[in-house]
Amino acid sequence: MKTVPDAKNPILKSHKMKTVPDTKKGFAYIYTIGCQMNSYDSEKLAAITGSMGYERTDDLDRADIVICNTCSIREKAQEKAYSFLGTLASRKRKKPGLIAIMAGCVAQQEGERVFRRLPHLDIVMGTQAFERLPTLISRVLSSKGAGITDIDPSPAIFESRPDLSTMARDKISRFVTIMQGCDNFCTYCVVPHVRGRERSRTPESIVEEISTLAGSGVKEVTLLGQNVNSYGQKEGICSFPELLKRIDSIQGIERIRFATSHPKDLSDELISAVLNLKKVCNQLHLPVQSGSNAILKKMNRGYTREQYLGRISMLRHHCPGIGLSSDMIVGFPSETREDFEQTLDLIRTVRFDGIFAFAYSSRPNAPARGFKGALDESEKMARLNELLDLQESITRELNEGRVGEVETILVEGKSLRKRDGSKDEEKLPQMTGRTETGKIVHFHGENIKPGNMVKIKITNAYPHSLWGNLFDDPLE
Ligand code: SAH
Ligand code: SF4
Ligand code: F3S
Repeated sequence: MKTVPDAKNPILKSHKMKTVPDTKKGFAYIYTIGCQMNSYDSEKLAAITGSMGYERTDDLDRADIVICNTCSIREKAQEKAYSFLGTLASRKRKKPGLIAIMAGCVAQQEGERVFRRLPHLDIVMGTQAFERLPTLISRVLSSKGAGITDIDPSPAIFESRPDLSTMARDKISRFVTIMQGCDNFCTYCVVPHVRGRERSRTPESIVEEISTLAGSGVKEVTLLGQNVNSYGQKEGICSFPELLKRIDSIQGIERIRFATSHPKDLSDELISAVLNLKKVCNQLHLPVQSGSNAILKKMNRGYTREQYLGRISMLRHHCPGIGLSSDMIVGFPSETREDFEQTLDLIRTVRFDGIFAFAYSSRPNAPARGFKGALDESEKMARLNELLDLQESITRELNEGRVGEVETILVEGKSLRKRDGSKDEEKLPQMTGRTETGKIVHFHGENIKPGNMVKIKITNAYPHSLWGNLFDDPLE
């Protein structure tokens, strides 16, 4: 690695110099499964491999390093990782120098055991090992083929700054992880076991990172944490509403979103931050998981149905028109038809804009694995479909209610969707963006660029998106 002076400021001191690799060593392919936090982590992995001389590629055939950043939240996500990494065995036979790596949550959970199913892997590296990737790769390059495991659980805060040279530069919206881990121990969940205890980054480093992003043209940030409402509390550094206030004053940033808010910690201060801070979007993702008090208790969620509904009323009272979404788990052990009806009833009462719903999946180390009353897969799927049908009709009604309204959209890029939902890149320019409340809007528009704020009159509503015309469009 050598340092070179910044082209515009050749005499800058060394700490302001950019680092560039000596030579290009090859290409890195990174496949990400899982949550937004994993997407953010993958950008960091790209920056690290980039600094080692591996250019990022979307072409698996060109790759010299393949990293699968894995998720363990449900069995299906885990199996997706095993199946993808399984396909690398034949690739490695054809290209013996190929380095195959499992990173992230499944790696943290399974460690050495991964090699029993995937003996061809070179590295299994957990969620706290990212910064050691260069050392791990050098060990592979100098070793005789034995797989290396690094799942040291000592929690690390990953503080590397965004490396703009390795990031897709045309993105208007970015994720920024503000805290890691979780202390809540919901009984179904692996996250505290694979990501460790909750810890928050300093407000200074977060503000610095977002300012850098803003300087490169980013207009919207989504702050990530498993429970952003408890940001900074443990460290006593700064509350989440205070952090929002600091980010709100960063020049160039137009919109701030965040996820996930835990209902038990949704404070009045946060509600007033959503109301009063100009750039904080009128939108909240507030996972409830179940509408039954008996199930919420077994899940260890720390609130009742009534408390949850109370918070929703409070939010709607102070922030009219707020976009609300949630996560639901159906078929938790011992969930009766009555419990499930309570969930459906809560959905009818709240009328969320959207829901992510999942069939309960039994996970290693999660206490619910040992709970009595497991439901059949077929029953879980039947309940899941019933719930999704209900939500789809609510989303459609809410979307139809937007027809005729004028919405302010932050344009994210070109839309690849036709009105009938099929993909068609020929029909451009069709643009896409989001309303403040998070709804996707497609529209036709010439000379509109990503990052523009435009007013769109909504003309059509679909289950997952809205269509409209530029408000001052002469065709209107
Ligand atoms: N920290 C967030 C969510 C993290 S995981 C929160 O507390 O809400 C994202 C979602 O996955 C969860 O909200 C939950 O709905 C779902 N999930 C987590 N563990 C699961 C499991 N074992 N089976 C099915 N869904 C699960
Ligand atoms: Fe998992 Fe619960 Fe933590 Fe969310 S709050 S990450 S569901 S343990
Ligand atoms: Fe999955 Fe790990 Fe995120 S388990 S949901 S990738 S924190």
